[in-house]
Amino acid sequence: MDDGLVRKILFDSAGAVEFLDPEAWRSALARWQAEPLPAQALSWLIDFDETELAHIEELAEKIRQQADAVVLLGVGGSQAGAKAIIEALREPQKGPEIIYAGHNFSGHYLQNVLLSLAGKEIAVIAVSKSGNTAETLLAFGVFRQYMKERYGEGAKDRIYVISGYKTGALGKLAQKAGYAQLSIPPQVGGRYSIFTSVALLPIAAAGIDIRSFLAGGVAGMASYGGEQWSKNPCLQYALWRYSLYRQGYQNELWVTWEPCLSFFGTWWRQLFVESESKDGEGDYPVVAEYSNDLHYLGQYLKEGPRNIFETVVWLAEAPLILPLESNTAAIIGMEPEANWAFVNEQVMQKTREVHRQAGVPQLLITLPHLNAYHLGELAAFFAQACLVGASLLGCDPLSQPAVDTYKDQVRELLKKDK
Ligand code: PA5
Repeated sequence: MDDGLVRKILFDSAGAVEFLDPEAWRSALARWQAEPLPAQALSWLIDFDETELAHIEELAEKIRQQADAVVLLGVGGSQAGAKAIIEALREPQKGPEIIYAGHNFSGHYLQNVLLSLAGKEIAVIAVSKSGNTAETLLAFGVFRQYMKERYGEGAKDRIYVISGYKTGALGKLAQKAGYAQLSIPPQVGGRYSIFTSVALLPIAAAGIDIRSFLAGGVAGMASYGGEQWSKNPCLQYALWRYSLYRQGYQNELWVTWEPCLSFFGTWWRQLFVESESKDGEGDYPVVAEYSNDLHYLGQYLKEGPRNIFETVVWLAEAPLILPLESNTAAIIGMEPEANWAFVNEQVMQKTREVHRQAGVPQLLITLPHLNAYHLGELAAFFAQACLVGASLLGCDPLSQPAVDTYKDQVRELLKKDK
């Protein structure tokens, strides 16, 4: 295995130690030790056989051959995982453009997506576990119609449906029309579906190595399922955020300094908030992309309420090293040989120090490389931390009653004979 893959994700809490009430930590630890999750608690997350994987790769290859742009329809957990990985790793020359839809009720948005498809060869992937989610189903209708108008009978070969229940409307429509279909394991809910066909087909269609992504996920599950907190960075992260939460730091700000990782933060937010926010409990999650967001959040972090902690997800080695332009570097008074990676790291370190001094606890997670393997490992890291977080709060991480009610209410609201 290449040396880059052996390097692990690191967790560092040094920037939070001065804020920790030892009693909060003792109580978090006691809660965990009283009822630790079994090492295999996440084993349902990745459940694949070779035949299924080969089938996904085959469909992805077909999509890559037939399309310049793929419209990916889905909302919430049925879109967030694929988007996190695609936006982090996609290289335009290696696969079709991915266009997201089916996640809102804006006709204006859809109209613009339709306009953007002119002159491109298109495929559509529609994802809904329930098969009945209004945003996705209504958008599916629009794109099905569009594909029929453009490709006639051939549209059938360019539409792919990923759905969980045979009883859902999306699955039924797909069956009737003869579209290629993939299923979703019944035990895996939307926000946990990052290692299932839900995310794997679009990720593979975008030209990203899903075997490496899954290998990272499997390695992550093995490393982070351990019960011994002092040797397990994922457990440490979960215990730290719970202890800080109990002390009144009820907002967690997930920070990246790499724009391509912003949507990974959006997936993290989806995962934690839908899993933990129950019975009046749960951190409020915010995702920030620095340094851009420092131009407003910097004000809050220095002078706003002291109820927030930062979890910085830092990429240790940027894949591309770009030198600064010497004339503008000289205007700022910098060394001419400095590069952008150096600047990013310097500003990151100083910002963490300044925020810590202003009373914002600092957690740091370091991702060794930007590749499919380590993003798989990072996804397993957060999925495991989320299960631990929910267990510490005493809630069921797999349910989402309020979101389910919202979905039912929307369908009810839109019915003509109410
Ligand atoms: O995690 C979840 O369960 C939700 O975020 C769902 O993924 C989201 O509501 C979409 O649901 P569905 O896949 O049924 O269309």
